[in-house]
Amino acid sequence: MSQHLQSIRGMHDVLPADSALWQWFESQVMAVVNGYGYQEIRMPLVEKTALFKRSIGEVTDIVEKEMYTFDDRNGDSLTLRPEGTASCVRACIQHGLLHNQQQRLWYQGPMFRHERPQKGRYRQFHQVGVETFGIPGPEVEAELIAMTARLWQLLGIQEVRLEINSLGSPEARQVYRERLVEYFQGYEADLDEDSRRRLKENPLRILDSKNPKLKNLIEAAPSLEDALDEASIQHFAQLRQMLDRMGIAYVVNPRLVRGLDYYTRTVFEWITESLGAQGTICAGGRYDGLVEQLGGKSVPAAGFAMGIERLLALIQSNGDIQPGGEPHAYVVLVGGPEVLEQGYAMTEKIRASVPGLRLQVNLGGGSIKSQMKKADKRGARVALIIGDDELQAGTVSFKPLRKADGEQQVLHLKDLFPALEKLV
Ligand code: HAM
Repeated sequence: MSQHLQSIRGMHDVLPADSALWQWFESQVMAVVNGYGYQEIRMPLVEKTALFKRSIGEVTDIVEKEMYTFDDRNGDSLTLRPEGTASCVRACIQHGLLHNQQQRLWYQGPMFRHERPQKGRYRQFHQVGVETFGIPGPEVEAELIAMTARLWQLLGIQEVRLEINSLGSPEARQVYRERLVEYFQGYEADLDEDSRRRLKENPLRILDSKNPKLKNLIEAAPSLEDALDEASIQHFAQLRQMLDRMGIAYVVNPRLVRGLDYYTRTVFEWITESLGAQGTICAGGRYDGLVEQLGGKSVPAAGFAMGIERLLALIQSNGDIQPGGEPHAYVVLVGGPEVLEQGYAMTEKIRASVPGLRLQVNLGGGSIKSQMKKADKRGARVALIIGDDELQAGTVSFKPLRKADGEQQVLHLKDLFPALEKLV
């Protein structure tokens, strides 16, 4: 038996049956980001490994365990991007997009992390990301959050919870870091190997450990809230006020630290209980230090990214979305080569005359019955039947495939076009 080649574990095809949903999702995203004045940026899928190490942080799960890193033929260490923020910042610095100007950008595409695949967690997954540069105030976070809430509304998503927190300034984090080290050192014997190592290098990371044995210890750890600096407290208070005014509900979760090192002040996550363990559908925050850290002039920044597969799973579990994309009409050609030739020419004429019409023409011949079956299976609303009689009379038989759309009629072209326009 021949061995079929399979896709890589955790990397999936989007099959035709699902692509209409993806396209519909993408069109809703575009409506929202364009509506808020964001511009698209497209970055390469591969970057120098150093970019991710310097931005996401050496002592993080992503950099330590999950990156697809390889030497290319020149011996340079490259990595398939595990996220988009680092690349976006790199691109903005490289092309001078941050000199005395604000930027509001968005991107989408595949990201790669060598995680253990399970429902909602893949090795190639897709994100829509949004990044803003040059605005220090909390109105940015408010806008980012409002934008996501607006998108949930368009997507028909209801059962999500917004969690927010403030990580404070880097200085406040340093104070907190020392408190944490002191606390966890008292329980060093109870820590797992990962956490013991992180205790020295990056103690905040212990807080997002997934080890259930550490849950109680982490819960009793000193709170970041008590270490916050005055400016961060005010920033966070104003953000909360803005969310209140916009009527966006949230929960302050003082344990929310995020898995990437670049955040300062606000962090947030949108979480659903409907997807099991991988319930975070969107996450982000402020990262005021990153541009400078990657070699640019210091510029305040904030953004978020959402996982498309998780969002689509949530939308599908709601079950009431009809993404559309089926042809409006399906051309059935009954007869010999003459019908085929003239029928094709007629189909192009219709396409030219009815903009926006999704018109699929039958390929590969077949009886009228089998062609009608195909039209039905594709979900077309109308079959346009063309045979010898129609060609001679300069007409088309217009046959609705749903009862509510009425009876079959024979139409001259001048009446056919308006009838088809009504379907668009
Ligand atoms: P992140 O939390 O690593 O943040 O990822 C954002 C979202 O991507 C997650 O909430 C989740 O929905 C989705 N996601 C992450 N990993 C996977 C996976 N293995 N399989 C499926 N979905 C996944 C970032 O990536 C930051 N760059 C977000 C950001 C932008 N912060 C500021 N700007």
